[in-house]
This record gives sequence, structure tokens and C-alpha cells, in this order.
Amino acid sequence: MKKIIIANWKMNPATAREALALARKMEIGTAKIKKSDVVLAAPFPFLSLIARHSSLKIGAQDVFWEPKGAFTGEVSASQLRSAGVGFVIVGHSERRRMGENNAMAHKKLKAVLKAGMRPILCVGEEERKREVPFPLTVRDELHSAFTGIPKALAKKVIVVYEPVWAISTSKAGKADNPRDVFEMSLMIRRELFRLLGKRIAAQIPILYGGSVDEKNAAQFVHEGRVDGLLVGGASLHAEKFLKIVKSVATL
Ligand code: PGA
Repeated sequence: MKKIIIANWKMNPATAREALALARKMEIGTAKIKKSDVVLAAPFPFLSLIARHSSLKIGAQDVFWEPKGAFTGEVSASQLRSAGVGFVIVGHSERRRMGENNAMAHKKLKAVLKAGMRPILCVGEEERKREVPFPLTVRDELHSAFTGIPKALAKKVIVVYEPVWAISTSKAGKADNPRDVFEMSLMIRRELFRLLGKRIAAQIPILYGGSVDEKNAAQFVHEGRVDGLLVGGASLHAEKFLKIVKSVATL
């Protein structure tokens, strides 16, 4: 499976000018990389600008599930699509913390698929408990997201295992280790088998996210055997991000 490296800029940078400059560096630095797909998930106001001025694959960080109407402040899947977006993050823990629940994440995932884009579904537990090898939270997040999704569409979903405690801005803010990520990705894959059958589940990329940097990226892909990475903080530094992409490309 081709690796996928996603840059999640979150609510950064401050201006369109900075966004475009950073996107350009990413575009130039990744132009020759054929072994991975690089996706840039930028804030809404920069999406069409970056899509117009670069050949990068563009992702959005959120979406609303209704197709149109009186929903002040929301952005629909077709609006994103028409801005040049091909990927949309759904269920990121920072959105879940602001009230996004599993039912909402499911509706968003459906809307993204319906508009012909690929959802990037984030799942992950708040806290690691050794006595519970496969956290109920992760199981519920997967079940709720995929239930009722036709199999032909489900294979377009990208799943990211992103333990909340491993995100660089969280209190612990410490990356998981590749061995545990490997085990967790196996359990996620097994759950996807149950939900979707072997043939479809085998086609769904499972990525890791949480304090990925230029030093640990290759280990997560090599030893953790994930299909790619979701990179937050380190994606705001072109050199760091390019090192991450290159270290994965050499595996
Ligand atoms: P981080 O963020 O790489 O800064 O931990 C990842 C994310 O929250 O998507």
C-alpha cells in the first residue's frame, strides 16, 4: 500500500502569505517523492488559495454534514470539493473535545464520501490502560463511523490511530512507541475485518498520529508497520516535515 503522510496545520499559520510560502516549500520538497502521497490539511481560508497555486493534495480539517442551508459558520462537503479539497479530517480529538460525538463524526464521514472525497477518520483513547488492550473508545469510534456505510465507499476511508495523550500539545505530549502502535493497528484492522469483511478492510490505510517528528517517523512506519502518518506540530516547519517525508520514502 502506498504510504500517506498528512500534514495537519491546525489553526496555523496566521496569514495567507505564510501559508502559501510554507505550502510552496512543501510542494518543492516533496515533488520527487513517488512512494508516498502527501496531503496538506490547511485551515479553511487557505484551501482554495493553496489548491490554485500548488499541486499538493489538499485536505480540510472539518466539515458540516448538511448539504446546504441556514447553518451560519458551517462549511459543506460540496463547498470543500469545489475549493479543490480531496481529503477531510473527521473526528479529530480536538474537535471531539469541542463537542463532536460519534454520531456527528459518522454524519460527517458520510457527507465527505458522498461528495467524492476521502475522509481521514481519527480514533484514539484518552488514556492508555494496560489492562484494556483494545480500548472501548476506539472500538466505539470505529463502529459508529462505519456502520451503514456501503462497502464500496468504506474502502475510501483513511483511519488514523491517534491516542489523545500522545498529541504534542496534550498534557503528556509524548509519542507512543512503535511496538504498541503496531499492536493497536492490528486490533484496528481486526475490528475493520469484523465490520467490513476482509477484502474491504485490507484496503483501508491505518496511519499513526501523535508527536511524530523527524526522529521517530521512520520507526513508526517500519516497526509500527502503519500505512502512514498524521503530523501536527512538525508539519509547520518545512525542513522537519520534509525530513519526515524523506525518511519514510527511504524505507
Ligand atoms: P502532533 O499533532 O503531531 O503535534 O502531536 C497531531 C494531530 O493532532 O493531528
